Amino acid sequence: MAKILVTGGCGYIGSHTIVDLVEHGYECVSVDNYLNSDPSVLEQIASITGKKVKNYPVDLVNKEALKEVFKQEDIYAIIHFAALKAVGESVEKPLLYYRNNIEGQINLLECALQNNIYHFIFSSSCTVYGQSDHLPVTEETPIAKAESPYGYTKQVCERIIEDSIRNKEMNACLLRYFNPAGAHDSLQLGESPINPPMNLIPVITEVGIGSRPELKVFGSDYETRDGSCVRDYIHVMDLANAHTKSLQYLESKNVDFGDAEVFNLGTGEGTTVLEAINSWEEVSGEKLNYSIVDRREGDIPAIFADYSKAKESLGWDPKRGIGDIMKTAWGWEKIRRENIVK
Ligand SMILES: NC(=O)c1ccc[n+]([C@@H]2O[C@H](COP(=O)([O-])OP(=O)(O)OC[C@H]3O[C@@H](n4cnc5c(N)ncnc54)[C@H](O)[C@@H]3O)[C@@H](O)[C@H]2O)c1
Repeated sequence: MAKILVTGGCGYIGSHTIVDLVEHGYECVSVDNYLNSDPSVLEQIASITGKKVKNYPVDLVNKEALKEVFKQEDIYAIIHFAALKAVGESVEKPLLYYRNNIEGQINLLECALQNNIYHFIFSSSCTVYGQSDHLPVTEETPIAKAESPYGYTKQVCERIIEDSIRNKEMNACLLRYFNPAGAHDSLQLGESPINPPMNLIPVITEVGIGSRPELKVFGSDYETRDGSCVRDYIHVMDLANAHTKSLQYLESKNVDFGDAEVFNLGTGEGTTVLEAINSWEEVSGEKLNYSIVDRREGDIPAIFADYSKAKESLGWDPKRGIGDIMKTAWGWEKIRRENIVK
């Protein structure tokens, strides 16, 4: 049986997507050099699905090693998650981000084109929109000048895919995620990064568990419901399922070879920072240690998705809201902490 190559399959979204793919009958193989993950994720995937997925600990930047993977495996589609993703770090180390995210993807596309891969799905981000004057943002919302090298790698990688598959026997989906969060409902899989997470929900749960002293809420004077920033949090299992649906969509020949289609993946619902804190307090029954400080440079006040295109074309409709996200994120954080203490 031909396989799906999942790059970054040991990372947060990649591992949850493998679970969804396996549960829908797909066979997967991963390439992940553990830059921000750990091999134990493969056991967690196996304990949920009953299937052991093989990972090649190969750096995408190492083209010769990557070519070997394509020699070993019969692959017909690629879901490409592997990238560095910390906005702040990308400002400090732009060349690291350009090499890892762009060169890695160029190598992957070259291997894909040499090996007749039919379908390519790419992890992009709502950062490509910057702060839009019109909310919710649609796929037609203009792309803004990238605020960080990380954001620029997403814009460039989208363009590289569009250009390199034109007139080739490959079609693609470019998936612009809003704010992924939460964990698998079984609480056997969640976010386990090697580098400290910077996103709001894992920071809230880390403060809740006591591994961070305090949460700083940057700004309370934005023109939003309660003055704090608004983001569109999407449950990681809903997001994972969007990849399975995208693959089915590409396989169905609804997308001509040579075409790359863009989809927003969010819930269409914005949640403020203070509402997210409230949600954690409701789920945990505890008070979170947080303080309100000045605005942080570079933060946009509000963004949330119009995902109607994904709903119509992919038949994708996220089922879970901020309460489910917080419940699973908190449950997972407590289990992680117990394992660290053991
Ligand atoms: N998590 C988010 O908030 C978010 C939002 C928008 C887009 N994205 C994108 O989604 C994708 C997955 O994000 P995630 O949250 O799962 O991140 P993650 O760090 O948990 O997973 C990425 C995985 O890729 C691996 N990797 C990185 N560079 C590699 C390389 N050169 N060769 C092989 N493996 C490599 C890492 O070890 C890691 O396991 C990324 O492309 C990210 O930019 C994430």
